[in-house]
Amino acid sequence: MSDKNPLVQLLYISTITPSADTSLSSILASARRNNQANDITGMLMFNGKRFLQVLEGPVEAVEATYDRINLDPRHRAQVVLARRTIAHREFGDWSMAYRDGTGPTDSALYETICAKVADAHPNLRAELTAFARNI
Ligand SMILES: Cc1cc2nc3c(=O)[nH]c(=O)nc-3n(C[C@H](O)[C@H](O)[C@H](O)COP(=O)(O)O)c2cc1C
Repeated sequence: MSDKNPLVQLLYISTITPSADTSLSSILASARRNNQANDITGMLMFNGKRFLQVLEGPVEAVEATYDRINLDPRHRAQVVLARRTIAHREFGDWSMAYRDGTGPTDSALYETICAKVADAHPNLRAELTAFARNI
């Protein structure tokens, strides 16, 4: 992946729409497939109710992807928590890392999430680190 062009990193949170046809594995499969094709990296966390996702890559690709995600009826109440220009990818080796609480505890990912929200409002930061800790 080339990082010569300006890169942007977007962090949002949303709430799952309770629905019989929401398949997390299909969300993840299309995310991985599309993101690899669009030069986007990032991570997706799900705690049973809310999604927390980081998208990073070329600005046009990230905005187009987020526009698509934002229209997805499988979730609602999307809130963009941070959108910033980055010099280097922070999730460069992940097409879409994913935690749903079923795997072993990954303290490195937890530390990364804490660092990512270090500049957020204290209430928000507490919510997000709790999110990461509890999945
Ligand atoms: C919580 C959530 C996260 C998603 N993340 C991505 C993503 O990172 N990349 C992506 O292309 N689509 C993502 N999607 C799916 C898109 O909303 C959309 O369904 C998909 O991009 C359509 O492309 P497809 O027809 O190739 O599946 C996500 C959907 C949800 C509900």
